[in-house]
Amino acid sequence: RRYIILGISGSLRKRSSNTRLLSFIEQLLPEGTEFRQFDGLAALPHFNPDIDGVEAEVHDKVREWRLNVQEADAVVICTPEYARGVPGSLKNALDWVVSSGEFVSKPTAIISASPHADGGAAALASLKLTLTMMTADLPEHASLAIPYISKIIEQDGSVSEPHMVSLLCKLVRSLLQAVSSK
Ligand code: FNR
Repeated sequence: RRYIILGISGSLRKRSSNTRLLSFIEQLLPEGTEFRQFDGLAALPHFNPDIDGVEAEVHDKVREWRLNVQEADAVVICTPEYARGVPGSLKNALDWVVSSGEFVSKPTAIISASPHADGGAAALASLKLTLTMMTADLPEHASLAIPYISKIIEQDGSVSEPHMVSLLCKLVRSLLQAVSSK
């Protein structure tokens, strides 16, 4: 069976380094894997528990988001750090799947990428806390904070720095291993 990998970028910016990084990760996937990029974060309404769980009131975009996660065998989240945290649009999307449970046992790779020295480590740690609470499956080597991203990624999204390429390959392997052991 073809595995479906869902890529989610925490940045809405057109020239986002995180979004470009996702397209590089797509290139690293083995043949026969389907990569889908979810780009609907900005279209989601703000999370509101009053309308969560009331099936008739769930917004179409929320349904679509949940379905995308549900259909995926694994997820790759690539996010910037904003003010030492996860961007609001990404956190909002994650709040919409707390009670519906789409991330339960879902193999999920998490990456933060930043032009600064610590690679957005605080946002990565926060994302990890959130997904751990949601009982996502977070493989040990599928978590990565990438520093100095603006120096190692090209406009077309290619990454040539060998050490980083090898860490990303390891991340992909580790994620797919989690998928195949389900
Ligand atoms: C940032 N940036 C940033 N970087 C970081 O390492 N730690 C931080 O806390 C923040 N905070 C922050 C807040 C706001 C409002 C902006 C706009 C930016 C810089 C950020 O890492 C940089 O803009 C990245 O290039 C954003 O990622 P994308 O959009 O290229 O994927």
